[in-house]
Amino acid sequence: MPEHTYERVAFFSGEKIPLEMHKARMVQRVHLRPVGERLAVLTSTGNNTFLLPNRDVFLDMLTDSGVNAMSEAQYAAMLLADDSYAGSETYYRLEKTVRGFFGLPYFLPAHQGRACENILATAYVKPGDYMVTNYHFTTTKAHVTRLGGLVYECVSDAASETESTDPFKGNYEMAKLESFVDRTGTEKIAFVRIEAGTNLIGGQPVSLENMREVSAFCRRKGLRLVFDASLLADNLYFIKTREKSCMKRPLDEIVLEMCSLMDIIYFSGRKLGCARGGGLALAHEKDYRKLRDFVPLFEGFLTYGGMSVREMEAMNVGIQETLDIDVISQTPLFVEALGEELQAKGIPVVTPFGGLGCHLDAMRFIPHVPQEQYPAGALGSAVYLTSGCRGMERGTMSEQRNPDGSEHLSTVELLRLAVPKRVFTLSQLKFVADRLGWLYEHRDLIGGLEFEDEPETLRFFLGRLRPVGDWQQRLADAFRKDMPSGL
Ligand SMILES: Cc1ncc(COP(=O)(O)O)c(C=O)c1O
Repeated sequence: MPEHTYERVAFFSGEKIPLEMHKARMVQRVHLRPVGERLAVLTSTGNNTFLLPNRDVFLDMLTDSGVNAMSEAQYAAMLLADDSYAGSETYYRLEKTVRGFFGLPYFLPAHQGRACENILATAYVKPGDYMVTNYHFTTTKAHVTRLGGLVYECVSDAASETESTDPFKGNYEMAKLESFVDRTGTEKIAFVRIEAGTNLIGGQPVSLENMREVSAFCRRKGLRLVFDASLLADNLYFIKTREKSCMKRPLDEIVLEMCSLMDIIYFSGRKLGCARGGGLALAHEKDYRKLRDFVPLFEGFLTYGGMSVREMEAMNVGIQETLDIDVISQTPLFVEALGEELQAKGIPVVTPFGGLGCHLDAMRFIPHVPQEQYPAGALGSAVYLTSGCRGMERGTMSEQRNPDGSEHLSTVELLRLAVPKRVFTLSQLKFVADRLGWLYEHRDLIGGLEFEDEPETLRFFLGRLRPVGDWQQRLADAFRKDMPSGL
């Protein structure tokens, strides 16, 4: 492991600038289309940033999932992959790493995070059962409700405050958990879930102290505790830098303690490990045997679980690199740098800054757009129009409708501008901040969206929307006035 520079190197000028401990040796050409073309693309792709072709996107800030820049060691490992259906050396290498990293004895591979959720829900959720969680994730909830299950959230009240100083907004409110379990009874609870780096509330972490409390409660009550470790890298960085008792502890020790509190851990290898894949680590043989049978059924044979062996090799190295503070600090420090640029322009962003990306608070950015018109989605289309950058709606559009068909209004309406690891430069982030500054000054022009094609499941992925009125044309005209090249 290289020697760390984190917190040991500072600018003599006193400027707070995140210093990259890597250099780029392969790059990808990107394109910035003029605003007229951006409007045409937006219209033809139903105002859904998931449907934009990458060739029309300048900075792809949709997600970090599967698009973090890999290290040279990851690429090198891919060449060593052992391609066999059963018993590949690659699998055994990955199994050893997963066991060592999480400290749990059993491992099951799966093709990505939601595949693990499918296996978990299929194994444990019966109609009327609950998954209790700090906060839901889109695919997690969809798998539970698809089987007739229900989701109950116990996240602290701070989660809904987009402007806050609470360092661990992803924490469980223990009183909520305890009273829910008392009311409902343990037999109706399929499992309790902790999501690291809570995605939908702005990449907000859970403290180790809170994990200990939840685990102790679950053990007392005999409840199965599941840990979604997809966003573990960011969460680990925040534990190390925000939780006093952990500041001097080595990263591997923190991870091992955290994981020793859990019964089952699953992860998206598109996030944790900076590759493309996933898997489950399990503490108990009983759970392992129950879940194991679903792997050949849904994923593939037990020694590849739907992943290419090359990706498994990359994930193997990527997981080990999670224990390097210079690697895991990169996204949070860049998120902070972008967040501070935006704050200086008065733009409402989620604080404290979290992991994953910078999150714009759409309800404060465009308070005149009602939640029924998807303010975070509308802001996403306005951001693309004025910058060529795409973010992801994390609000009401990402929710499922209530069983009676009414809208389930989200607690928060966020536009996430993801900052995948090692992908963007500071000047690119400054460009985003500059265009957002222009947009904020013209925010009165932004209107809402309405569905023209609304899928029943996970509608935010493939749904198509249209603007309410002609606000996008007016926004594009105003932009061209100030930036005659349209760029
Ligand atoms: C917290 C969390 N859980 C689960 C998933 C699903 O993982 P995947 O996209 O690999 O299916 C994601 C993906 O973004 C996630 O952020």
